[in-house]
Amino acid sequence: MAMLDGRVAFITGGASGIGAGTARRFAQEGALIALADVQDEDGERLREELTKAGGRAIFVHCDVSDPASVEEALATTVREFGRLDVVFANAGINGVWAPIEELEPAEWDKTIRTNLTGTFLMIKYAVPHLKRAGGGSVIVTASVNGTRIFSNTGATAYSTTKAGQLAMTQMLALELARSGIRVNCICPGSVDTNIEDSTRKRDVEKVKIDVEFEQTIPLNNRPATSDEVADLALFLASPASRHITGTPIWIDGAQSLLQG
Ligand code: NAI
Repeated sequence: MAMLDGRVAFITGGASGIGAGTARRFAQEGALIALADVQDEDGERLREELTKAGGRAIFVHCDVSDPASVEEALATTVREFGRLDVVFANAGINGVWAPIEELEPAEWDKTIRTNLTGTFLMIKYAVPHLKRAGGGSVIVTASVNGTRIFSNTGATAYSTTKAGQLAMTQMLALELARSGIRVNCICPGSVDTNIEDSTRKRDVEKVKIDVEFEQTIPLNNRPATSDEVADLALFLASPASRHITGTPIWIDGAQSLLQG
């Protein structure tokens, strides 16, 4: 039997990178997929691909920083598939990386709203649906930044969101355990995706600490692929991880042990 047979999975940032890779992997394992993203064209294209491959998938336009949009996207998913079992709170941006005096409040807000408030809204509005299904699995994509690596000076807003996501994971794992809802956190190092498109670095060299880290990634000497992160998400979504909650898992080929 497939690992996610008949399970309904809601994937934010599902139109690109880690989210798209995970959607493909979950679909291969029998899940019904809701792709949630602000990139409608890419999302629709992936929905078509999954459907052509014999899966069931919908695309829902969803801005994770907007409470009404999140609520509506979840309602559409449950109307379509009848239930909700897995939430992959994965959408995120790198945002602006800049020295603290230059980081504008609006830039700070955008990163916090997308990555941290977005994760809060996702989980908040998903929980009633998960409770109705008798439990479920929530997986949050954080990062090595803010959890093990603090040397990307300028990435203050981004790293703060990732640290906050891990704290949220641990708080909610405890709060939701009695409802049979598991909450875990994936912390990737470099992954080959489109994340550079959402990155603006401004004057970061001004605050760079003059220390040379070995730039290699000890295991395999390369960034992860989205498929490798998807395999971890699959494990956390499936009953194979049934006793795991409140846990961060780093997937970085030991990069953060070297650069932390
Ligand atoms: P990506 O840029 O390929 O995909 C991110 C997706 O999120 C895009 O489709 C984008 O449209 C969507 N998105 C952005 N803002 C949104 C919003 N307000 N509402 C809904 N969707 C929104 O990047 P990637 O790498 O797949 O990123 C996924 C997650 O992985 C992010 O949380 C990122 O911080 C995290 N991550 C990525 C790493 C990397 O090296 N690529 C390393 C560590 C963490």
